[in-house]
Amino acid sequence: MTFKTTRLDRFIHQSSDFSIADTRLLIAQKRIIVDGLPAESVQQRVTALTQVVLDGNTLRNTKAVYLMLNKPQGVVSATKDPEHATVLDLIEHPAKGALHIAGRLDLNSTGLLLLTNDGAWSRRISLPETKCRKTYEVTVAKPMHEAYVLAFQAGIYFAYEDLTTQPAHLEMLSPFTARLSLVEGRYHQVKRMFGHFQNEVLALHRVSVGSLTLGGLELGESRLLTRRELEEAGLD
Ligand code: URA
Repeated sequence: MTFKTTRLDRFIHQSSDFSIADTRLLIAQKRIIVDGLPAESVQQRVTALTQVVLDGNTLRNTKAVYLMLNKPQGVVSATKDPEHATVLDLIEHPAKGALHIAGRLDLNSTGLLLLTNDGAWSRRISLPETKCRKTYEVTVAKPMHEAYVLAFQAGIYFAYEDLTTQPAHLEMLSPFTARLSLVEGRYHQVKRMFGHFQNEVLALHRVSVGSLTLGGLELGESRLLTRRELEEAGLD
């Protein structure tokens, strides 16, 4: 079995309170021991099997991890799939085996996807009661009209679950494109809402979850959320 390798400075940052910039000094001070020997370089590679000791304590990536990914099309929001690449295949993180998805996107949907090992946090994102707003850019096959705005605001009845969706805000940007924001994340919710009008969703891109936005993150790229983003998201 081969293990993914991670740079030593990144590993230390992810498994302690030290920043990547701090690691150089820690190494110079001989405070980091890798597999029994003082670390030599921040660029040294470590794997899940490497023992990294800082000031006598073995570091483990058991800290809470919060990541965002700009999901491309054709990648499954799952941790395993027999057929397609999964979102985990796009992520490099030593603790990625312990991550789960906070709010899936369909195979052909794109955009902001959150991954974490913190189950309570992901539940807060997904539960309708917390009113965490998810915003999507939608392209549809047939022109929309004002009735959509009113119907989405009033809620669409989903017979399978026997429920009416929470009020959603639709801003039509052109006859075929809109920005839709929802506070829940039911199975294929956006497609089913447009399905109410027999209008097919041709493209769906999630631009934000609560206060979290992709910023300049390119499709297929991922990054850790910053402390400030986590605080501002108010989901702790
Ligand atoms: N609603 C959908 O229908 N698909 C998604 O991927 C996300 C929300």
